[in-house]
Amino acid sequence: MHPKNAWYVACTPDEIAEKPLGRKICNENMVFYRGDHSRVAALEDFCPHRGAPLSLGFVRDGKLVCGYHGLEMGSDGRTATMPCQRVQAFPAIRSFPVEERHGFIWVWPGDPARADTALIPNLHWADSPDWAYGGGLYHIACDYRLMIDNLMDLTTKPTCMLRASARRKSTRRRSTPGSVATK
Ligand code: FES
Repeated sequence: MHPKNAWYVACTPDEIAEKPLGRKICNENMVFYRGDHSRVAALEDFCPHRGAPLSLGFVRDGKLVCGYHGLEMGSDGRTATMPCQRVQAFPAIRSFPVEERHGFIWVWPGDPARADTALIPNLHWADSPDWAYGGGLYHIACDYRLMIDNLMDLTTKPTCMLRASARRKSTRRRSTPGSVATK
């Protein structure tokens, strides 16, 4: 179960610099690439001709070309052309709202009408020369929620430390010989 109406970091720009990238986000197989005017695009990773993954193809003149029979896909999910074929009847595939910001490529897997770029978290430090930032792609062999749970521990640290410190002081007071509890 994944919340679909949210922005997700899909990849970094260098991952689509050379060729299209296939990636599963929220159980959706997507392909990311740079289309017309080098704008990043995200489509369902499925060729409407015979179902080949479009991520195995390449980009030519801003169109995503299927590596199987050469269908050319536009960033709106509609087939533009295909050698020796009429393409008007080909069904459109899904295109996903996508945005390049803070050194990441973000995708919205849910309802496109609700994709508001103002909701993208402000991670300005991730691509600012004034900040040190490092990261990468980690494959975690567990439910993603366990990873979130693990990282949320850090946010509770100050509270936990205060409580632990208070407990230690209280224990020390009680164990001091001759001390008297007062209200
Ligand atoms: S499967 Fe893509 S063009 Fe045929």
